[in-house]
Amino acid sequence: MDIQPFFDFVRESPSAFHASDALCRRLEAAGFLPLSEREPFALVPGGRYYVTRNRSSVLAFALPQGGFSHFQIVASHSDSPVFKLKTNPEEAVCAQYLRLNVERYGGMIMSTWLDRPLSIAGRALVREGGALTTKLVDFGRDAALIPNMPIHFNREVNDGYKFNPQVDLLPLYGGAQAKGALLEEIARCCGTQSENIAAFDLFLYNRERGSVFGTQGEFFACPRIDDLECAFASLEAFLSSKPEGHVNVLAVFDNEEVGSGTKQGADSSLLSDALFRICGAMGLGDEAARAAIAASFMVSADNAHAVHPNHPEKYDADDRAYLNGGVVIKHNANQKYTTDAVSGAIFAEICRRAGVPVQHFSNRSDILGGSTLGNIANTHVSINTVDIGLAQLAMHSCYETAGTQDLTFMVRSLAAFYGTQIETRADGEYALR
Ligand code: CO
Repeated sequence: MDIQPFFDFVRESPSAFHASDALCRRLEAAGFLPLSEREPFALVPGGRYYVTRNRSSVLAFALPQGGFSHFQIVASHSDSPVFKLKTNPEEAVCAQYLRLNVERYGGMIMSTWLDRPLSIAGRALVREGGALTTKLVDFGRDAALIPNMPIHFNREVNDGYKFNPQVDLLPLYGGAQAKGALLEEIARCCGTQSENIAAFDLFLYNRERGSVFGTQGEFFACPRIDDLECAFASLEAFLSSKPEGHVNVLAVFDNEEVGSGTKQGADSSLLSDALFRICGAMGLGDEAARAAIAASFMVSADNAHAVHPNHPEKYDADDRAYLNGGVVIKHNANQKYTTDAVSGAIFAEICRRAGVPVQHFSNRSDILGGSTLGNIANTHVSINTVDIGLAQLAMHSCYETAGTQDLTFMVRSLAAFYGTQIETRADGEYALR
């Protein structure tokens, strides 16, 4: 699979709002109809629809022509660790510089953000004809840079320097004359005057293009691979599949990097609301809806850690993943990952039948890992769920690395998942058709 369409998607997705917009445009182009959560869902068999919440999370679904017994869901996330501009971000320094006051969103590797051209993107609320309207904002130029201190004033920088985000990570935005320029630039992006900007959620981002490397082009590096790679792969698989006997659902949630606890995150009612409303609109009563949800299956797709070439000792001796080794199934005894023998077996069997290689990942028992969407979403909609991802290096750097072949493996495995009817015959007994 050509990697370029993924690079294009990343370039169109400098913020979660843009990622959501890029997904919606692709869904609309494929014939999906927009729904509003604030209006009754009017659905027809075979229909294909999507909703957004906060314009940063997207949920799309495809109905089969006939009836359905359950849902098959793939969930990923639209956000990445970034720096967010504060409300009054302009700060003059020594009457010579204009820098921006920012704070951390999520847990990034801070050093990766220094000494590279950055831009600014997100959304603004604009006063327009007596109403407040959301506008996407993307400066689309090299607009700021966070300079390192010279080594002569920071001799310890190579011995493990502790960055202070309020001191060391504030980007330079302009010279002495730049005061007021930020609001004007936001207004220009919105096609309005600066006095009409009511509020904004704006973030720094890395504009660097994706790059393929390795002696045979086996690797690629790119911003926001976590988790736009899974969002992109799940969309490709979703668009290529036609459900029979079940409803296919694509969910891309915002705010995974800050714990998902927002109205549009995985720890919200977004998924459960949609599933119950789909059932209701298709004539299923509460009892039938609960039965359909109980028979459903979810794939939580968020990238995994590949063995680092300089630190192979940090990874489990047996349950470890490599770039281009195939789709990673993630395991954790304490259920930070939802995978268990049931969900692991079902997903691995789907991959086996599709000819997609599978790798298994557990953390070393003396290393505490991260967590993801699956177990959080499960507190709202409790269904069999498997945690998967693609192996990548440098997770939460602003320029991450992954395997070129793996994207194809993910698309194929998720297309096979959407195309397989997972039939629950009894608790613990499943048929895959
Ligand atoms: Co992630």
